[in-house]
Amino acid sequence: MSRAAIVLAAGKGTRFRSDLAKVLHPVVGRTMLRWVLEALRPLELDRIVVVVGHQAADVVAEAEAAGLPGLVTVTQPEQLGTGHAVRCASEEGALEGIDEVLVLPGDVPLLEPEPLAALLADAGQRAATILAFEPADPGGYGRLVRDEDGTVTRIVEHRDATDAERAITEANSGIYAFDRAALEDGLTRLAADNVQGEEYLTDVIAPLVPRGVGAVTAPAGLVSGVNDRAQLAEAGAVLRRRILTRLMREGVSIIDPDATYVDAEVRVGVDAVLRPGTHLEGATTVGAGADVGPATRLVDSAVGEGATVAQSVVLGAEIGEHATVGPFSYVRAGTRLATGGKIGAFVETKNAEIGEGAKVPHLSYVGDAEIGAGANIGAATVTVNYDGFAKHRTVIGPGARIGSDTMLVAPVTVGAEGYTGAGSVITSDVPDGALAVARSEQRIIEGYAERKRAKHERSQRDSS
Ligand code: UD1
Ligand code: CA
Repeated sequence: MSRAAIVLAAGKGTRFRSDLAKVLHPVVGRTMLRWVLEALRPLELDRIVVVVGHQAADVVAEAEAAGLPGLVTVTQPEQLGTGHAVRCASEEGALEGIDEVLVLPGDVPLLEPEPLAALLADAGQRAATILAFEPADPGGYGRLVRDEDGTVTRIVEHRDATDAERAITEANSGIYAFDRAALEDGLTRLAADNVQGEEYLTDVIAPLVPRGVGAVTAPAGLVSGVNDRAQLAEAGAVLRRRILTRLMREGVSIIDPDATYVDAEVRVGVDAVLRPGTHLEGATTVGAGADVGPATRLVDSAVGEGATVAQSVVLGAEIGEHATVGPFSYVRAGTRLATGGKIGAFVETKNAEIGEGAKVPHLSYVGDAEIGAGANIGAATVTVNYDGFAKHRTVIGPGARIGSDTMLVAPVTVGAEGYTGAGSVITSDVPDGALAVARSEQRIIEGYAERKRAKHERSQRDSS
């Protein structure tokens, strides 16, 4: 028995009012199309056919990025309806050698594998099985029309329905399982004789009734489609809650799930704590026992076990085990903070290797730099990495002590255990173990205040 799925993803999604194709809109860290493909993955189908049209190249790239075995794409040159889309797949030969076919839209991100498995279980016995549901408001959906015996006789689209048919609450999810031969036979007989002038896939149902048409019901929360951005946000809330519930069951503490945002691909270890206002995005990982938040955004970053990141923005960085970041740090791409290191308040880092136990505690900028293990960077130190044309590197050796308000004018190296005096502008290399002081010598001018006041009083007298 060989099985395929056809995912309809050629439409523009007019109600999104977007330059981006509807199925490419992201929700909780994945595009809608990707959510649908991930629901198919565990079914281990022999082939997955994605029908593309609007922004075809981008949709193809996104479909292929899922890396699903057996995935092929077919172009629907003009969007002439859901039936036409399936016909394109058939005419391209995408169903050759297939016995059973699932058809589903690309705009159902809430979909899970279970209802699809239920459909396939029913499919073997009939020409077609429809996945039905009872939406809170069935307006807009196709409706399942049944005869006196309760047998499904056809699907009628909302726009083509009579008032009596519109009173039917059982709606078509747009997801079906077909016997492949019966489906292809039905496709040859489609016509666009309806209000929208489209070839409706729903019209293949009625002619298949003598060969057996059934329906199974899915919870509305799994099959509702997303047609506009308001529905996208509603779907996002559901997906987010699913992710947080899974994480909590896996042993992650989430103080306030209503104020915590974790993308689909994020991994979090046991006994980690996520505080309110935490956003974990992209390919972020958080190690066991780490403490993140409040008010923290991590994008494509790795936080080690037992590390702390508070009130900070961390983009494309690695935070080592038991390291601390924040509050109020801006940790940018290419930052690697080793085990036990510290990036403290009002510190910005970029492309910076900060060694084991090294500390940048306050008010500093560290960019294009390497800081050795155990070094300490005094408050308000700046790596002056940009000369107006190019970026240059600062290297600070292990155990170095950089005085507060040091300007390290790159390219420059401070050797192991080297010191810089507070307020220095360091423009040439400092040898291992040496102290560099680069500031004007202090002068003492005795009696200055007294003379200044006397001068002021004289000028007041002269002008009166
Ligand atoms: C469709 C069903 C309706 C069902 C509803 C469930 C038909 C005629 N109607 O209506 O019974 O209740 O889904 O959500 O099938 N697409 C293409 N090519 C096209 C047209 C559409 O690939 O030419 C794709 C769209 O990108 C989308 C999917 O098919 O992913 C469904 O199309 P859409 O226009 O949203 O159908 P509905 O009007 O929602
Ligand atoms: Ca739809």
